[in-house]
Amino acid sequence: GLLGLDLGTSGCKGLLVSLEGRVLAAQSAEYPLLVPRPGWAEQEPEVWWEAAVAVLKRLAEQSKEQKIEILALGLTGQMHGAVFLDGLGNPIRPALLWNDGRTAAECREIEERVGPQRLRKIAGNPALTGFQAPKILWLRKNQPEAYARVRHLLLPKDFIRYRLTGGFATDASDAAGTLLLDLARRDYSPEILGALEIPPEWLPSVHEGPQITGYVSPEAARLTGLPPGLPVAAGGGDNAAAAVGSGVVREGTASVSVGTSGVIFAHSDHLRLDPEGALHAFCHAVPGKYHLMGVVLCAGGSLRWYRDTLAGEEVAAAQGAGRDPYQVLMDQAGPIPAGAEGLYFLPYLAGERTPHMDPQARGGWVGLSLAHRKGHLVRAILEGVAFALKDSLVRIAALGIQPEALRTVGGGMRSPLWRTIVAATLEAPLQGLEAEEGPAFGAALLGGVGVGAYRDVDEAVAKAVRLKPETTLPDPRLAQTYQELYRQYIRLYPALKESGV
Ligand code: XUL
Repeated sequence: GLLGLDLGTSGCKGLLVSLEGRVLAAQSAEYPLLVPRPGWAEQEPEVWWEAAVAVLKRLAEQSKEQKIEILALGLTGQMHGAVFLDGLGNPIRPALLWNDGRTAAECREIEERVGPQRLRKIAGNPALTGFQAPKILWLRKNQPEAYARVRHLLLPKDFIRYRLTGGFATDASDAAGTLLLDLARRDYSPEILGALEIPPEWLPSVHEGPQITGYVSPEAARLTGLPPGLPVAAGGGDNAAAAVGSGVVREGTASVSVGTSGVIFAHSDHLRLDPEGALHAFCHAVPGKYHLMGVVLCAGGSLRWYRDTLAGEEVAAAQGAGRDPYQVLMDQAGPIPAGAEGLYFLPYLAGERTPHMDPQARGGWVGLSLAHRKGHLVRAILEGVAFALKDSLVRIAALGIQPEALRTVGGGMRSPLWRTIVAATLEAPLQGLEAEEGPAFGAALLGGVGVGAYRDVDEAVAKAVRLKPETTLPDPRLAQTYQELYRQYIRLYPALKESGV
């Protein structure tokens, strides 16, 4: 069997997977998000470690009960965070996370020091507050005593690797999210490190996703129950690892995910950069390959916000009837005509990444009339999120990638209504996955490649990733309607921005 461990933002999830892709055991442990000030987001690396140990321990026990030999462990997790360690390898302070927005000034400083053109050309992306590099500059400026003690810088999942194996290592897909990597060379950029005055010796070595970076130490084996000497693969950032687990590992394959955020992820055989910088360009966890990614920050999050704020009645009714409140909302939206009779929804409740790159962007319904009912509000949310996803797909297509179909991931894409809307808006067939287990599943497969259980990532996908037989095809009439509505939708953000709201 293969182990995959995902160090997420809300918790740590681990899977034991057979070589054929069957999930033999799953475990998870939650931990809190620390918000010391509005817009900040931190977590304690020690708390991550405790959660990881608890999850691995239970998986190790289950593997023994089932008499399954564990061949490898692959790591994945939330990207971009900064873990600062001292000379003894101990965390100096809580880690700053991907969703922490305190570094606007440092982003400007990075653009100035490196030069916006060079930064885009080398690191593939503009400086965004979530990325790791600005967090390092923030520490230097704001907590100099802490900065003076730094000897090692890690991404979140690589702290777990350090505790398990004693080694400082990362993988190219996650390292691409630091802004310190030369994407073409898949190694750090001396030019960027020099411009930002970041000592190269603080950084972990960069490996391809399936590469084995170390082995579980006797001490970590004692704590977790894992076999000592178990090979640990580099793995990948959560999006890249999830893509491996969804079989998005070849040019022409892509996925659409609707969880809290929404992501369109497209594999790219070579490095492609978005001239507007609205799409993220990162290395893939597939050796030598790349990906493009558009991120809608509040996709399923918009519907959850609606459920929690405005749908009190529906939630109560659902609970009384033992039904899922989301199902009640979908039943309200289903009969409403496409376009919600002139109602639009902008899903920028948490600012937006693609395409606006605007943390200050805000959402709203536009076009309300007396004729509108709650079902219209919900329908407009489902459609607004679909339009926001289309903003990403349009830019991916402009760079020469036209996926024939999109694989679907995340809770939102389990709704038949939302699938119908998204398929028609994106004008692409949607394919579900048999085992939708997310990043940990892909990480486990990468570990399998690392120890030679599969020849390469392609073979791992061929053996372990299965699509559901049915496909959601775009309805041509609906697609036509959404084309027209989308043209209107894209004019709303600029108009609102202009208004100063
Ligand atoms: C990717 C990103 C998120 C985190 C969260 O750019 O910020 O997907 O990886 O897990």
